[in-house]
Amino acid sequence: MKVYATYNIKGGVGKTTAAVNLAYLAAASGRRALLWDLDPQGAATYLFRVKPRVRGGGHGLISGKRPVDDAVKATDFDNLDLLPADFSYRNMDLELDDAKKRTSRLDQLLAGVADDYDIAFLDCPPSASLVSENVIRAANVLLVPLIPATLSLHTYAQLTRFVSDTPRPRPQVVAFFSMADRRKRLHREIMEAMPRDRGRVADTVVPSMAIIEQMAERRAPVPAFAPTSRAAKCYEQLWTEVRNSP
Ligand SMILES: Nc1ncnc2c1ncn2[C@@H]1O[C@H](COP(=O)(O)OP(=O)(O)OP(=O)(O)O)[C@@H](O)[C@H]1O
Ligand SMILES: [Mg+2]
Repeated sequence: MKVYATYNIKGGVGKTTAAVNLAYLAAASGRRALLWDLDPQGAATYLFRVKPRVRGGGHGLISGKRPVDDAVKATDFDNLDLLPADFSYRNMDLELDDAKKRTSRLDQLLAGVADDYDIAFLDCPPSASLVSENVIRAANVLLVPLIPATLSLHTYAQLTRFVSDTPRPRPQVVAFFSMADRRKRLHREIMEAMPRDRGRVADTVVPSMAIIEQMAERRAPVPAFAPTSRAAKCYEQLWTEVRNSP
């Protein structure tokens, strides 16, 4: 089972949007996919119309009292399951701190469902926390959405340092520009100035598009409700690039 995580220390950059669309595309192409919503905000859970309720909460899962496969919910889409978040996930750091393997507990839990899925996506809350350390440990690929702004590059440098400070095996970092507006000079300049030596930068750029914001109203991935849209094509292109990465 290959594990992808959408991750950034920064909030509101398109992590959940990418996780939801890419998990949908992976499942639509016949892969058995699991999306684990790790964010107490539960945005991915909401977008897939799943109730934000985990019996036993984050504590149940992390302590092992509740098996992961028991907490998994089906979505409306073939091959795509969701492990929902609820508000108890805000204490996930404390739960992990109490766990025996505090930085590899999520990896361990995912190993328990590795035979059931080809691909797992982790949708992470914006932070550099113990949850993030666990995600970095568990993921094969970290997908990092970046809004082309000066501070984003600063945060990206922090992120790559954070990743290189974690013990091996480390995930491959694949950044991509998100909510980009090529009409803005600053956006164009930053996309060109992006350092390419700290990780891969995807060729696919996800522009800022109103149809993507509609996901919250439609409560569905964009390729599900607007399969011929430019936005859907964009995530398809991103997925093709990412899934073919070594
Ligand atoms: N390419 C885009 N064009 C326009 N709006 C977008 C785009 N990508 C995401 N958005 C919107 O921006 C907001 C933030 O996106 P999203 O929830 O995916 O970010 P996030 O990084 O997961 O946020 P958080 O850190 O709060 O978890 C949402 O309202 C989403 O619909
Ligand atoms: Mg999110």
